[in-house]
Amino acid sequence: MWRACRWRCGDPRRDSVAEGAKQWIDLADASSLAEGKGRSVEANGRRFALFHVGGAFHAIDDHCPHRGAPLGAGWVENGEVFCPLHGWAFDVATGACSTRPDRPVKYYPTKVEDGRVWMAME
Ligand code: FES
Repeated sequence: MWRACRWRCGDPRRDSVAEGAKQWIDLADASSLAEGKGRSVEANGRRFALFHVGGAFHAIDDHCPHRGAPLGAGWVENGEVFCPLHGWAFDVATGACSTRPDRPVKYYPTKVEDGRVWMAME
């Protein structure tokens, strides 16, 4: 499905596309996130943590399962993001939590098209 720009500026640029059971959401300009960095982004009324690590983009839930801190504000080291509040560590490429393996966060597949980072939701 094609929709108008999320900023309602009249730009016919798409911000979400349905593809089979997946819905691809436009998350960010790929050039806006430097290698080794992450940040919180809002899409579809929710917040996600987006990371640029090892030349690839990764999206996970932004909400830390411990006390809800934004994981996008954490620091990234060796493929993991450390929660800014108490330091739980999450693999940015899977959402697995190495501090508490029973408390992972959801990981979302991503792709880059036309300089934009897209995230798949089902
Ligand atoms: S809120 Fe994330 S580790 Fe405590």
